Amino acid sequence: MPYTLEQLSSDIRGALKADAGQAGKQAICALVSKALLDKEFIAQHLTADQCKPRKVLYEDPELGFCVCGHVYPDAAIGAPHDHGSSWAIYGLAEGDTEMVDWRIVKPGEGDGPSLVEPERSYVLRPGDAHFYDVGVVHSPNRSGVTRLIRIEGSNLDHVRRSRIRAA
Ligand SMILES: [Fe+2]
Repeated sequence: MPYTLEQLSSDIRGALKADAGQAGKQAICALVSKALLDKEFIAQHLTADQCKPRKVLYEDPELGFCVCGHVYPDAAIGAPHDHGSSWAIYGLAEGDTEMVDWRIVKPGEGDGPSLVEPERSYVLRPGDAHFYDVGVVHSPNRSGVTRLIRIEGSNLDHVRRSRIRAA
């Protein structure tokens, strides 16, 4: 039976209600992987016409998390960033993506940016989902067409990002 957006959203609600901490986030990664490997789900929701580059597919009225679809048409080297006060889960459906984790070497003061250095890199492949907690600095490097399901802890349209710069 195909995995639907309604079922994914409902399962994420259940996971967060059962455990809003690390265990809940890891449970969501498994749910996202299930959706990523469902060809019908991907074909229906991760379309370039609606997700270029981001579309909120579902926003939970109570818990505030969002299920987003992303389609990036081109290769790109991402800048290091966090998601302000929100956590996020990146789930890759198409297009191997190198992710870089960065560590903060000098926290920002006042309006100044935090300075960061690359710490490690790894490749997300179709079906992989990775949790980025609040304040974790990361950057994606895409080598071509990429499609993602990204879960945002809260809608990033309304979240102020931290100022971050590579040292
Ligand atoms: Fe990100």
